[in-house]
Amino acid sequence: MKINGTPFRTIWSTADNSAVEIIDQTKLPHVFATQRLENMRDAERAIRDMQVRGAPLIGVTAAYGVALSMRDHASDAALKATCDKLLLARPTAVNLRWGVEKMRALLAPLPVSERAAAAWQEAARIADQDVAINASIGRHGGELIRAIYEKKKSTVNILTHCNAGWLATVDWGTALAPVYNAFDAGIPLHVWVDETRPRNQGASLTAWELGQHGVPHTVIADNTGGHLMQHGMVDMVIVGTDRVTARGDVCNKIGTYLKALAAFDNGVPFYVALPTPTIDWTLQDGVKEIPIEQRAEAEVTHISGLCDDGQVRTMQLTPNNSRAANYGFDVTPARLVTALITERGVVKADAEAMRVLR
Ligand code: MRU
Repeated sequence: MKINGTPFRTIWSTADNSAVEIIDQTKLPHVFATQRLENMRDAERAIRDMQVRGAPLIGVTAAYGVALSMRDHASDAALKATCDKLLLARPTAVNLRWGVEKMRALLAPLPVSERAAAAWQEAARIADQDVAINASIGRHGGELIRAIYEKKKSTVNILTHCNAGWLATVDWGTALAPVYNAFDAGIPLHVWVDETRPRNQGASLTAWELGQHGVPHTVIADNTGGHLMQHGMVDMVIVGTDRVTARGDVCNKIGTYLKALAAFDNGVPFYVALPTPTIDWTLQDGVKEIPIEQRAEAEVTHISGLCDDGQVRTMQLTPNNSRAANYGFDVTPARLVTALITERGVVKADAEAMRVLR
C-alpha cells in the first residue's frame, strides 16, 4: 500500500540483507518512522512493545526474528532458545506460534551451516505468502461488498473494529483487504472506524491507512456501533481475528463480541476475514481455551495524543487511586458469525464447513 504515494510494506529486509526494517506503529498516526531490527532481541521487543502488531504481522516478524538469530548462532540449542523466547512475546495471536513453528520445522533437520541462509529465505517467503493470501481475501470479500452494492445501489457502509488493515499484515490487510478491493473497483463505500480503546488502533492506525488510500471513513467512539445498526447505517461488519478455533469461535480485539451481538440483534451480517494460518485446529471452545492477553493498566488510565503545540504527550484520565483492568481480546462465539472470509473462499463458521480449509 502507499504512504504519500510511495509503496510500502510493514516489514522488509534491507537491500544488503543485513537487517530487517519495520514501520514503528507506536508512533502513528502523528509520526511516520521506520526502525531497524538487527537481531532476535530487537524482533522480540518490537512484537512485545507493539511496534509491530496484528496477528499476521506478528507471525512474519517472529519468522524474521528466527532468521536474524540464526546468523548469530545456529546450533540446536540456539534454535530452541530463540523459538522459546519469541513464543512468549505475545500470547493470543496464534500466527506467532505458526510462524515460529514453521521456521523450526524447516531448520531443525538442516545442518547448522545451512540454517542462516535457509531461515532468511523462508522468512521472506512467509512474508510474500502473507501478501498473496491477503490479496485473495480481498477478492473474495470484495465480492460480498459488490453484492450488497448491487442490491442497495448506494454507498455501502462497513463497520470495522481495531486495525486489521495492511498495517496488521505485510500488505493489504485482512478485514480491510475487501474494502480496498471494492474501493479500487469503483464501488462507493464508507467505513465506520471503531476507535478501539484502550490502545486506539482504530483511531490511530485504521483511520490513517484508510486516509492514505483515500477511502471515505468516519471514526466513532467504541460504544456507537449498536446505535448505528439500529438506524440502518451499517450494511455489514468486517473484522479481523487473532485466533479462530476449529469450530469457528473468533478471538479478536476486546469489544468485538459486543459488536457481534449488536449485529446479530439487528440482522447486520458480521464477517471475519482471516488467513488460514490464523485457525488453531487444536482448539474448539474459544471462550474456555484461548489465552487472553492482559496488558498494563496504564494503557487504560492514560492516553496519548497530539497537543495543540504539535507535541505528542501522554496524560492521565483516571483518578490517582483507581485501578484498571486491561483485557486485550475477547471471543465471539461462532453462532454470531455470518461467515469467515479466507484466502480460499467464504466459509461458514462451523466445524463441518471449515473442514475444507484444513
Ligand atoms: O493488539 P493488536 O493491535 O495486535 O490487535 C490486532 C487485532 O486485534 C486485529 O484485529 C487482529 O490481529 C487481526 S489482524 C489482521
